[in-house]
Amino acid sequence: MKKDVLETLKYNKGSFISGEELSNRLGVTRTAIWKHINQLKEEGYEIESVSRKGYRLMGEPDLLNQHALQLELKTKTIGRRIVHYDTIDSTNTVAKKIAAEGAEEGAVVIAEEQTGGRGRLGRQWVSPKGAGIWMSLVLRPSIEPAEAAKITQIAAAAVTLAIRRVTGCEAGIKWPNDIILHKKKVCGILTEMGAELNSVSYIVVGIGINANVDVALFPEEVKRIATSIKDCVGNNISRKEIVLHILKEFEDLYLDFIYTKSIKKSVEICKAYSVTLGNTVKIINRDQTIIAEAVDLTEEGELIIRNQEGQMEKIISGEVSV
Ligand code: BTN
Repeated sequence: MKKDVLETLKYNKGSFISGEELSNRLGVTRTAIWKHINQLKEEGYEIESVSRKGYRLMGEPDLLNQHALQLELKTKTIGRRIVHYDTIDSTNTVAKKIAAEGAEEGAVVIAEEQTGGRGRLGRQWVSPKGAGIWMSLVLRPSIEPAEAAKITQIAAAAVTLAIRRVTGCEAGIKWPNDIILHKKKVCGILTEMGAELNSVSYIVVGIGINANVDVALFPEEVKRIATSIKDCVGNNISRKEIVLHILKEFEDLYLDFIYTKSIKKSVEICKAYSVTLGNTVKIINRDQTIIAEAVDLTEEGELIIRNQEGQMEKIISGEVSV
């Protein structure tokens, strides 16, 4: 019921709605409405109460804990359990640990700050307190280890849709796992797994988004290559809205993959918002560096390139610079 009260206030955000109208619409007493309003206020929602006018939602807390997210989450499994930390070394490390101990599919680890955030290729991921979205999803798909990269494509598509829908910023995807705003990286995805020879036991998708990070505080060399959503929008954005949208978009695309055994839908999104395709790219894969033209993505999410000899090649993974 508190969820319904909040949804109605949100729908009317900025305008008053009377206690009587709320109680009629939701079929509960005005005293019950009053109690829910008080609870919401205690949780940090700014609700103005004016006699004869009613209630008006003015502001929402930007909390990423279980309580705050459950109230508004629209998913069936993804994010139904949130493990929230104020400070932790790495959400991926915690997610891998709880997955190995049997955590259910859809459990999500979120931290306000990471002291040992990890990026790809053993790099460090700077994760300042309260400024970003540092989270890891636990998944248990029945797939082979070689298919794990597909989950990265699903996550890239979900994050891009969420950023676009919530902020209107034109987020793009640098294959395979970077989300870009104005040619700079705003989000990185680190997919890790626990697996037997032929089957995955769990997958952890780590998503790091510079949401409200102040770019002025980046070291000079980072400023050239990284940005934040705040820098694009011009003010702080609601991390909660972004997380809610990512979890929903992710669940829709992930379930589609589980049912159809194809990531075609995610790949279509990755293609539509790709900043890689059509460009000359440098691909670093282990010790090899290739300069080539990025031509297309396969239905499995691999990159098709035209090499300097004019031949087409499929690239499964790698570090790409455009
Ligand atoms: C990259 O682009 O190199 C991937 C960066 C992934 C960072 C996220 S933040 C949440 C999760 N926990 C980590 O330690 N890493 C990932």
